[in-house]
Amino acid sequence: VAANALKRIARNDGMKQYIQNSKDLYPVFQRAAKRFITGETREDGIQRARSLNDKGYPVSLEYIGENTATKEECVKAKNEMIELIGDIQSHGIDSKISFDLSHIGLSVDESLALKHMDELAGVAKQHVCYLMISMEESAKTNSILNIYKQVSSIYNNVGITLQVNLKRSLDDLRELLHFPGKIRLVKGAYKESPEIMIQRSEELNHRYLQFVQECLDVNHPISIATHDEKLLNEIKKRGYAQKSNVEIEMLDGIRPDLINQSKEEGYNTRVYLLYGLEWFLYVCHRLAENPPNIYQFIADMVNV
Ligand code: FDA
Repeated sequence: VAANALKRIARNDGMKQYIQNSKDLYPVFQRAAKRFITGETREDGIQRARSLNDKGYPVSLEYIGENTATKEECVKAKNEMIELIGDIQSHGIDSKISFDLSHIGLSVDESLALKHMDELAGVAKQHVCYLMISMEESAKTNSILNIYKQVSSIYNNVGITLQVNLKRSLDDLRELLHFPGKIRLVKGAYKESPEIMIQRSEELNHRYLQFVQECLDVNHPISIATHDEKLLNEIKKRGYAQKSNVEIEMLDGIRPDLINQSKEEGYNTRVYLLYGLEWFLYVCHRLAENPPNIYQFIADMVNV
């Protein structure tokens, strides 16, 4: 119940505004955010990236945001990402950049997202930077894949995220294997209707293994993006994670022990970092998907 409530709060602008104006509730969300978000500024992101690089982890950096409603805001977000690309290079940070296409135009117009994506890919190419497109709700899947395929046909420094839990994704995967970009395999964070989605289950984990296997069969670069220890152990046992073009990627702050163990075992690892002001939705997602997070969150609320 609490998980569904959090997901509903995340998507409800009135509720979000109420919480942001509440002197009691907002600090509880801010406290939760500290666990999942590096900070509100680009400098915060760069600083955390440097500290993780120093510990031996390459990172992915995301300037957090999605569903940007106006063209002006999309241009601002795209420009922030251009600054980020420059800072990554000038500070000598080992980082890819991840983002939602709806942050830079998809919620306004698909052609705006494509234009911004094309510009970002060109700038990133000059700065030897790799871009990873995130995957959003299923209503946007076709548009995101269309844009990826167009840009990926021109630039070889752009990759894509695929949600294993969508029934359509196996067909999508087989098509994506014809494009050069890295494929980041995730279980999927969005609540979709049961007709199009497979719930968290053994079946989903088997499917995840199948996706990994199909990528490896054609030697395609992948990111294994999961915190599921059992699934990861099986992936390691089968020798899937040993290849140089396979990496294990986790969100910052979720399973630091597990990513550290994987690094110590000699696997390629990467940590995913976020910075920015628009953290509210992301934090609600991370709280909702894991019961212990919800209990902690409720305990924090009771103590306000
Ligand atoms: P699962 O949800 O089955 O959880 C397995 C175990 O992991 C749990 O039992 C718990 O131990 C731990 N765990 C998982 N989530 C936790 C949390 N929030 N707090 C504490 N422990 C937790 N999704 C999407 O739809 N589009 C995208 O573009 C991306 N991008 C992305 C990038 C990267 C690098 C990662 C790691 C993940 C994403 N995701 C995503 C999110 C992904 O779809 C998924 O929702 C989360 O990774 C949680 O699923 P798991 O695979 O970790 O397993």
